[in-house]
Amino acid sequence: MKVIRFSDLAASGQAAGKRVFIRADLNVPQDDAGNITEDTRIRASVPCIRLALDAGAAVMVTSHLGRPTEGEFKPADSLAPVAKRLSELLGRDVPLVADWVDGVDVKPGQVVLLENCRVNKGEKKNSPELARKMAALCDIYVNDAFGTAHRAEGTTYGIAEYAPVASAGPLLAAEIDAITQALAAPKRPLVAIVAGSKVSTKLTILQALSAKVDGLIVGGGIANTFMLAAGLKIGKSLAEPDLMGDAKAVIEAMKARGAAVPIPTDVVVAKKFAADAEATVKAATDVADDDLILDIGPQTAAALAGQLKAAGTIVWNGPVGVFEFDAFSHGTETLARAIAASPAFSIAGGGDTLAAIAKYGIDKDVGYISTGGGAFLEILEGKKLPALEILEKRAA
Ligand code: 3PG
Repeated sequence: MKVIRFSDLAASGQAAGKRVFIRADLNVPQDDAGNITEDTRIRASVPCIRLALDAGAAVMVTSHLGRPTEGEFKPADSLAPVAKRLSELLGRDVPLVADWVDGVDVKPGQVVLLENCRVNKGEKKNSPELARKMAALCDIYVNDAFGTAHRAEGTTYGIAEYAPVASAGPLLAAEIDAITQALAAPKRPLVAIVAGSKVSTKLTILQALSAKVDGLIVGGGIANTFMLAAGLKIGKSLAEPDLMGDAKAVIEAMKARGAAVPIPTDVVVAKKFAADAEATVKAATDVADDDLILDIGPQTAAALAGQLKAAGTIVWNGPVGVFEFDAFSHGTETLARAIAASPAFSIAGGGDTLAAIAKYGIDKDVGYISTGGGAFLEILEGKKLPALEILEKRAA
C-alpha cells in the first residue's frame, strides 16, 4: 500500500504546529443508559492521537457513532461518553466541540473531539461542499478509522480529496499491513475459517477466498449448507438449501486448485436451540430428521486443529458453533486454542470472533485482531476500500 503515513510526518517534524484532523472509528457499543460496553476501538485510537500531540500538532479528532439522521442531533447521538473515556485514556481533558464544520478553536498541544460527524448534512453522501469545509479546518488529514474504511463518506473520502495532505494513521496502516501479510503474500499453507449463520451473507467472501486459500474451513449454518451440498442430511439445522449450488461451486473451485473445504465428519446435535439442550455427538452421516446441528464434533475439531497448527497463515472470521452455549462451544474453543498454539501468522476479525477470542483469553496469541467489522469482511471479499483508494491517490 503506497500511502503517506502520519507516523512519518510526525517523526520528520512535519506535524509540529500544524492543524491535524484525525478521522477515528470510535463507534463503540453502548447500553441503554449510554454507557460504553466495549472500548477496544477507543483504546486502539489513542496511539494516533498521542503521536499527533507529541509531534506538537493542534489535534482535532472525530468519528461517527451509530447511524443518526443528518441535521437532527439527538443526545443519544453524542460522542460525550467517548470524550469521557478518551479523557481517561489520554490522562487529560478532551473537550467535545459541537457545530464544528465552520471553524474549530484548538491550539498546538491541545486535543478536541468533534461531535458525531454523521450528524453533519452531506456526510453520508460525501457532499463536496461539506468535504471542502472540513478540509479547510486542517493542514494534515489523518484517516485512522479502519472500521469505516469501506464507506466513502465526507470524513473518510471527501476531506481526503481536498485536505493539503492526506495520510494514514498508525491503526489504519497496521490493519492494512496485517491484512496484506495474510492475503497478498501469505506464508503457506493459508487456511481461512469462514463461519456464521448464513452462506448468503458471506458468499462473496467464500468465492474470493476459494481462489486464494489452501484450506477453507466453514462453520455454523454455512457448514450445514456445505454438508447438504456434500449429500449429507442435516435434519432441522439452519441452512440455505437454495445456495447448495453456490456451495458446490466453491467446493469444486477449491478442488480444482488441489485445495479443500473440509466437511465435518461428526457433529454435536440437540433437539432444541437452548443453552440447557442435551448435546449429543453423532457421525455426520447419522443426523436425524429432528436434529439441530449446533457445533462440529470432537473428531472434526481435532482434524481441523491439526490443519491450523500446520498452517503458515490463518484468517479467522466466525465461530464454528453456538459457542455462547457451553455444551456447543467445544468446537470453537478447540479451533481457538489451535490458532493460539499455531506458529502461523493469524488475523481475526468480526464481532462474534472477537467475543470468542475474549471468552478463551487468547488475544495475546492471535497475530492481529482487526477493529473492523464490515471493513474486514469487504477486504476478505477482495474489495478495494474507498478510504484507502483516496489515500493512495493522494500519495501518488
Ligand atoms: C462498524 O461498526 O462496522 C463501523 O463503525 C462502520 O459503521 P457503519 O456500518 O454504520 O458504517
